[in-house]
Amino acid sequence: MRPKEFVADDHEIDPARVDSDALHILRKLKDAGHTAYLVGGSVRDLLVQREPKDFDISTSARPQEIKKIFRRNCFLIGKRFRLAHIRFGKKIIEVSTFRSGENDSDLIVRDNTWGSEEEDVIRRDFTINGLFYDPFEHKVIDYVGGWEDIHKRVLRSIGDPLVRFKQDPVRMLRLIKFRARFGFDIDEQTKQALITSRKEITKSSPARILEEMLRMLESGAAARFFNLMVQARMLHLLFPMLSDILENEDENQIYDLLQVADQINQQQPKSPLSRPILTACLLFPLVDQALKKKFIDKDKVPHLGDVMMTTSSVIKEFVLTSFSHLPKKLSTVASAIIAMQYRLTPLSGKQSIRHKSLSMKEFPDALHFLKMRAALDPELLKPFKAWNNAWRQHLKKGVQQKHHHPPPAKKG
Ligand code: CTP
Repeated sequence: MRPKEFVADDHEIDPARVDSDALHILRKLKDAGHTAYLVGGSVRDLLVQREPKDFDISTSARPQEIKKIFRRNCFLIGKRFRLAHIRFGKKIIEVSTFRSGENDSDLIVRDNTWGSEEEDVIRRDFTINGLFYDPFEHKVIDYVGGWEDIHKRVLRSIGDPLVRFKQDPVRMLRLIKFRARFGFDIDEQTKQALITSRKEITKSSPARILEEMLRMLESGAAARFFNLMVQARMLHLLFPMLSDILENEDENQIYDLLQVADQINQQQPKSPLSRPILTACLLFPLVDQALKKKFIDKDKVPHLGDVMMTTSSVIKEFVLTSFSHLPKKLSTVASAIIAMQYRLTPLSGKQSIRHKSLSMKEFPDALHFLKMRAALDPELLKPFKAWNNAWRQHLKKGVQQKHHHPPPAKKG
């Protein structure tokens, strides 16, 4: 099939926004006689005037040919499907050989084989992710109708969405992710397939689901994403404890905290809040609700020990009931951030600055989380400021002690 091509006059991609190392790779591949394009998320983001996160490259060159060109900076990775990582200091640019799609009938089980540039895009998930861009010719190349869909702001599966969701159910989560991020509509056939196939999500790998969820928390559109997951009736299949709250209340602390996190992450997309803080946005409201039910509603004030016990039992239940288990380290640090909230703002109302808390490993994250809570509840501003001052003093003292050399001990 002949693709549609769109030249510089048709689009507003500023070639200066393409990463210079990616340009260098494209140039060298072309000079060696290969075809090479930017592909996927970066082309989509350039077209919607967003900063691309990474610049993936697709090429006709085979892995060994790529290795020959970039030598020491090139690492071939992947056992089943070889692709090249080209390193520039800490930055890695992924270069993959055009490959053909998977078997149309079932979950992806076998490996892909090399293919044409057209085959390389039709195996991808959504039309908006299936465009090539050649920055030297300023040309967008479209085999899948992605150009029109981006301009009409529509999300559409490449191929039959029922088949594509069955092959890889994570695509449904990605669909909701793109809707949350770009606010695009979902094309009718794709929407129907989502409704029909949503239960298939539990056939996918828990680790991939967790990674997509954590990336969503970092994305700056997390509140919208969780709301869309509830509307699509998918959240309860993965995280029933969250959906129990989110399905029954339109306004609640989880959405509020996620909105605060989104604002912060939109301002600093390259260094989002830490994953434990983001996890605390989901779990703190669950712990708070449990403490309220168990103690406050019965006119009891929980001791710190009670708080610790409740935090750990709520998080244990969350881990046991969720489709994807949180890694131990993530749940431990998130627990510490949550439990520490009740040291920083005791439920008894008796505020006091305890210096022991300042030396705890999770204190900086816990303080940051308190600041986020204070953005929602002005009453927390006072304790936040008090702890923040104490923290600054603590840091200053630490620096002074580090630079203070005691006089040498006298001999004799
Ligand atoms: N891709 C796909 N199906 C998937 C994952 C990825 O077709 N399940 C293709 C898409 O072309 C996608 C590209 O690989 O654009 C890069 O994938 P990835 O970096 O995971 O996603 P992005 O689309 O770039 O999204 P994000 O901006 O969230 O990274």
